[in-house]
Amino acid sequence: MKSLLEKADRVFMKNVSRFPVVFARGEGAFLYDTDGKRYLDFLSGIAVHALGHSHPRLAQALAVQAKKVMHVSNYFYLEEQILLAEKLVEVSGLDRVFFSNSGAEANEAAIKLARKYGRTKLGGRYEIISAEGSFHGRTIGALAATGQPKYQDAFRPLPEGFKYAKYNDLASWEAAITPQTCAFLLELVQGEGGVNPATPEFVQGLATLSRKHGILLIFDEVQTGLGRTGTYFAWQHFGVKPQIMTLAKALGSGVPLGAVLAEEEVAAAFVPGDHSTTVGGGGIAYATALEVLKTLAEDDLPVKAGKLGEELVKTFHTWQREIPIIKEVRGWGLLLALDLTIPAKPIVEQCLEKGLIVNAVTQTALRLAPPLNIGQAELSQGLDILYEVLKSQGAA
Ligand SMILES: Cc1ncc(COP(=O)(O)O)c(C=O)c1O
Repeated sequence: MKSLLEKADRVFMKNVSRFPVVFARGEGAFLYDTDGKRYLDFLSGIAVHALGHSHPRLAQALAVQAKKVMHVSNYFYLEEQILLAEKLVEVSGLDRVFFSNSGAEANEAAIKLARKYGRTKLGGRYEIISAEGSFHGRTIGALAATGQPKYQDAFRPLPEGFKYAKYNDLASWEAAITPQTCAFLLELVQGEGGVNPATPEFVQGLATLSRKHGILLIFDEVQTGLGRTGTYFAWQHFGVKPQIMTLAKALGSGVPLGAVLAEEEVAAAFVPGDHSTTVGGGGIAYATALEVLKTLAEDDLPVKAGKLGEELVKTFHTWQREIPIIKEVRGWGLLLALDLTIPAKPIVEQCLEKGLIVNAVTQTALRLAPPLNIGQAELSQGLDILYEVLKSQGAA
């Protein structure tokens, strides 16, 4: 591993900070580094591996598709692409789909769709309001929608037409509306922002505001979508359906794929030539995603993730009584955070040392996002490590 890390240090741009670990393979909830050390993965590649690593059904689907056909361009269709779009329409209740390569690109497509709808149906409105502390991706449009100056400042000027309002504060959104507002863009649990769930009053209030002012409701379900919070989509917790929704991460489960879905009337704003991408996931990604959706349904994984999450929250609340550095437990399903009274990064490093992968999503919050199909034994093993590390910090 040491020589690989030395090479990495020579050849990569320094735009991300990584831990000095090189993985060689993964299986279920486990990863193995090139020196053979085993780790329990409670991060799932940041909420990507809903089914864990190297799931046999995904590996099979992917291999079969690679021998069949991988890419034909958007001038044509692929069978698996159509079947996947049909399945997504069925599970979401939305009407139409466009496939992209990533979450950021799905959001780019959503932003363009909202602007085109604003231009053609809302008298030229173009402004999008998103939340402070949000995260919608690193491309320049998605970055403009991301309400976090720490990601934005080095890249200004950003595209215009974006405003920010306070998360879970309806009055702030109402105040941000202008005659130019065409859409609200929202994560129902802010993942990168620290695992902050939206409140029902806020989401329902936003839906009312959007109806009242004819403003589109866009939910970014890139991190929360496909079972992670205990339902297929986080909006199902609130009974508030968006007009546009974006997906990625678990959809391709490690194969690059994103999607934007919209209801008929909104989707109709796009006409040929308005938006496209050369690969947009491609055959391997569509075949893999079809298998992801089948497995989620057959194994009832969204429901299981919800139940497991409830049990975990109970466990963490009992830990709180013994371990005073746990200030708060947040999240739903298997997207959880433990907010600490001390910096989270040293805890992450100690967990890694002991073979458990979690991450510090803010200065003080540890994020946990294990595979949705994690077994009880693996879960307990990971929890034992986490408990031991947290307990050893004592009171702070
Ligand atoms: C809510 C949300 N939206 C968008 C993105 C960007 O997705 P990608 O990294 O696939 O571009 C992320 C990534 O973490 C995310 O959590």
